[in-house]
Amino acid sequence: MSKINKAACIGGGVIGGAWAARFLLSGIDVNMFDPHPEAERIVGEVIANAERAYAMLTMAPLPPRGKLTFIKSIEEAVKGADWIQESVPERIDLKRGVITQIDAASDPEALIGSSTSGILPTELQRDMKHPERMFVAHPYNPVYLLPLAELVGGEKTSPAVLEDAKAKLATIGMKGVILKKEIEAFVGDRLLEAVWREGLWLIKDDICDTETLDDVIRYSFGMRWAQMGMFETYRIAGGEAGMRHFIAQFGPCLSWPWTKLTDVVDLDDALTDKIANQSDAQSGAYGIRELERIRDENLVGIMHALKGANGGKGWGSGKLLAEFEAHLWENAPKPEAAIGAEPIRLLDTKVNPSWVDYNGHMTEFRYNQCFADSADALLRLIGVDMDYVAAGHSYYTVEAHNQWIDEAKLGDALYVKAQILPCDGKKLHTFMWLHRVADDAVLASCEHLMLHVASKEGKVVPPLPAVKDRLQPLIDAHAGLPLPANAGRVVGQKK
Ligand SMILES: NC(=O)c1ccc[n+]([C@@H]2O[C@H](COP(=O)([O-])OP(=O)(O)OC[C@H]3O[C@@H](n4cnc5c(N)ncnc54)[C@H](O)[C@@H]3O)[C@@H](O)[C@H]2O)c1
Repeated sequence: MSKINKAACIGGGVIGGAWAARFLLSGIDVNMFDPHPEAERIVGEVIANAERAYAMLTMAPLPPRGKLTFIKSIEEAVKGADWIQESVPERIDLKRGVITQIDAASDPEALIGSSTSGILPTELQRDMKHPERMFVAHPYNPVYLLPLAELVGGEKTSPAVLEDAKAKLATIGMKGVILKKEIEAFVGDRLLEAVWREGLWLIKDDICDTETLDDVIRYSFGMRWAQMGMFETYRIAGGEAGMRHFIAQFGPCLSWPWTKLTDVVDLDDALTDKIANQSDAQSGAYGIRELERIRDENLVGIMHALKGANGGKGWGSGKLLAEFEAHLWENAPKPEAAIGAEPIRLLDTKVNPSWVDYNGHMTEFRYNQCFADSADALLRLIGVDMDYVAAGHSYYTVEAHNQWIDEAKLGDALYVKAQILPCDGKKLHTFMWLHRVADDAVLASCEHLMLHVASKEGKVVPPLPAVKDRLQPLIDAHAGLPLPANAGRVVGQKK
């Protein structure tokens, strides 16, 4: 599969820093050029936010983080990069100049994406020697979480380059959508500006304040948009008669005075003050970093919910997350069973903010998650991977007994070890301990039983030889270990 081997980010502000974070967390080395004296600090803060968000986003094995290098010139920064992302301020002369410099210094095969919010790629590629590899890759803030990039080619962009860019973005968890034609502001910003312009009128005309306007969005159609967008939502709104009925019912409203879209509100000092004051009243109690963290946690929550939607097949950005995770698992080094007479380490993780409850401790079901993820890791270790499951066999958990022993706190690094208890492989019986890395203390234990099943028939059957041959040496190696003191424990038994 086409992938990005090395990236260069030219411009490291809000957007360039977050592109860098997405590349780095996907294991790609990044050269960064930004003349701002505090660029390293600013980019460092964005990356810290991104790392925090990814710890919540996925348990799939991210590759080792790429290396970030700050470079003193565009010419040096683009050397060896096969994806160069321009994210300098939105001024056509500045952008065109920077892109022309990138073009002259980079490998002619390297892809060059511009983060511009609305400038036509034809304008940006005007002075390039190799314009066919330049396109707009317009992302959304925060780039490390929101997966979309609008891919827009100019007159000289090769269509194959856009397809290549789309395939490469998929390997870093992004959804590239290719627009059929270039147009100022593309699709997303055209829509957003139309809604924003209407919002400004509603504030100016004292219909509502900024908080009420935001409430109208987030308690209603904002929730619909996150999962079905506009047209799929309206199809449902049309009832059984669908889209045609919706158009017949609401089409005429377009010529009623429902909108002021064609007028541009005068953003004079008075209106700017009014909006800024209302915004302070609405959100001033939070610092900007605090708001960013809340935003990131909410976005992760939405993606998690959508990952489990549609009967577990996933939906929208959640389906994309599941596909990215499948890609990460596929590309992770294949686990090798450490066959020895000692428990195997199956999981390393960290208590992240969304795992903590009102007591400040890891909430109860996250302990279960650690054990369930460890059981999955054990299965991968013995060859029960996606292909094995797709071919019709799997292990199902049928019984578990947990003991909660000590508290895990926010940020604690944790690991899980497992001992295979005597079993025949059709039954897979394990005992697992959740440890804190700092002092190896045991925080919880889990005795766990899985059965090997032929999924379609819903029958318990022995594992296929490929799995049995990997499992049996583990069962044999652990057979000589003493039974854990708490194995076979019943609920309520004295310590
Ligand atoms: N902020 C958003 O929500 C958003 C979303 C999508 C796209 N964009 C687009 O991304 C681009 C960057 O926007 P931003 O919000 O990150 O702006 P920003 O002001 O936060 O960052 C711009 C960075 O570019 C640097 N810079 C200036 N001249 C440079 C040069 N010659 N070479 C390299 N770096 C240079 C600046 O020092 C600054 O760090 C713009 O084109 C913008 O339209 C922004």
